[in-house]
Amino acid sequence: MPKLLVVYDSQTGNTEKMAKAVAEGAESVSGVEVIVKYYVQPKELEEASAIIFGSPTYHHDMTLPIKHILEEASKANVKLQGKIGAVFGSYGWSGEAPKLILEVLKNRFGMETIDSELTMLYTPDNDGLAKCRNLGKTVAEKIVNK
Ligand SMILES: Cc1cc2nc3c(=O)[nH]c(=O)nc-3n(C[C@H](O)[C@H](O)[C@H](O)COP(=O)(O)O)c2cc1C
Repeated sequence: MPKLLVVYDSQTGNTEKMAKAVAEGAESVSGVEVIVKYYVQPKELEEASAIIFGSPTYHHDMTLPIKHILEEASKANVKLQGKIGAVFGSYGWSGEAPKLILEVLKNRFGMETIDSELTMLYTPDNDGLAKCRNLGKTVAEKIVNK
């Protein structure tokens, strides 16, 4: 069964709420194994058919744990080419993190990305959570139909 990995960081719980809703949406599609983690070894990234990264924006950047995962993956030269990638994250005023992650997924790892990153101002409301579920579902459907 293809694996969909949701990797996220969250300092105050907002991006975590998004991550849970993304996973919920992915789980609504049968034939996909959904794994949610806040830390992964580079090898685990290779085992997934799709990876959805979540990071809040702090100091105009992704958080250090997410940057660390991307750096470790790069050093280990993991092969993510052609895998589906998507990003999300909560923010307060500028919200750069998801876009920065998306650029790395595309340009460093050659992933096939969903180019509209999903951002939410602070805590996601019901409409926001529905968008998160929809992102998870869209990505899961892509790997099932691949
Ligand atoms: C010290 C600090 C720095 C922050 N820097 C930014 C920033 O540069 N840009 C931005 O959009 N939001 C910034 N924020 C707001 C957070 O992104 C926002 O609170 C977000 O909801 C946190 O998500 P989390 O609960 O998943 O950690 C900052 C918040 C704190 C406390």
